[in-house]
Amino acid sequence: MAYAAGVDVGSTQTKAVIIDEERKIVSTALIDTGANVIQAAQHAYDSALKSSKIREVEVEYIIGTGYGRYRVTFGNAQVTEISCHGRGAVHMFPKTRTVVDMGGQDTKAIRVNDLGEIVDFCMNDKCAAGTGRFLGAAATALDIPLNDLGTTALKFNKPVRISTTCTVFAESEVLSWLGKGKKIEDILWGVHQSIASRSAGLLRRVGVEDEVTFTGGVTRNVAMVKAIEDRLETKLNVSEESHYMGALGAALFALDHILESRNPRKSVEATS
Ligand SMILES: Nc1ncnc2c1ncn2[C@@H]1O[C@H](COP(=O)(O)OP(=O)(O)OP(=O)(O)O)[C@@H](O)[C@H]1O
Ligand SMILES: [Mg+2]
Repeated sequence: MAYAAGVDVGSTQTKAVIIDEERKIVSTALIDTGANVIQAAQHAYDSALKSSKIREVEVEYIIGTGYGRYRVTFGNAQVTEISCHGRGAVHMFPKTRTVVDMGGQDTKAIRVNDLGEIVDFCMNDKCAAGTGRFLGAAATALDIPLNDLGTTALKFNKPVRISTTCTVFAESEVLSWLGKGKKIEDILWGVHQSIASRSAGLLRRVGVEDEVTFTGGVTRNVAMVKAIEDRLETKLNVSEESHYMGALGAALFALDHILESRNPRKSVEATS
């Protein structure tokens, strides 16, 4: 049995996924990227290997993706994260036609065909206002652990309208609402709504076609899932693996390579 791996070195977190020849996930790992990007890629991959029973030599092909994909020094090739999120999403949810990837620094809206190939995409420009970082700034201002952001926000009663579009000012706006006596959950829901409205704008630019699959680390935030669903008036596909979708897509491309080099005709059939 051969294995394939994908390592998604994001601006904020690094994800590694190992899959078997049946395209099943056998191991995952997640760590903060930090300042040493090369080390983060290596640590995430080592950790995924360690928590499986697979030996390093059994992993025949590794693909790096994410903004630090060229820092996956042990990788065999690189694929852009847009392609990897599209591929991973369609693998996990075959009826996916639109993908929204919300990470630490970027939000991307992607349209895909039934093979998971990219039809169109659009992303926020050099601004983290609609991303995990904006949420992180609000969490810090309110002294709430990232893990509890979503569940706290969902307790809202009278949502506050957040007007700032800049992460740098998010903290001061949140604090000023606190000073005016607004409840934490009402402020937080306002923050989620503001981000959801920006991502809905991006999605409309590529065209929203059902089914819509949500990927990236912010999928772990239940309030964000609801806020985007409310905006788009459609359900989102989300799973436990959603944070790993880019790394999964990279691993699937790596497996394609293994199968193609073994038997070109068979692999064409497998992907058609
Ligand atoms: N348990 C959690 N609860 C809520 N939010 C979370 C959780 N874990 C991660 N996140 C959010 O996910 C973000 C990281 O997501 P992800 O790993 O997709 O980003 P990235 O790939 O590093 O960034 P980018 O794609 O923008 O380069 C964090 O900034 C944080 O806001
Ligand atoms: Mg990412």
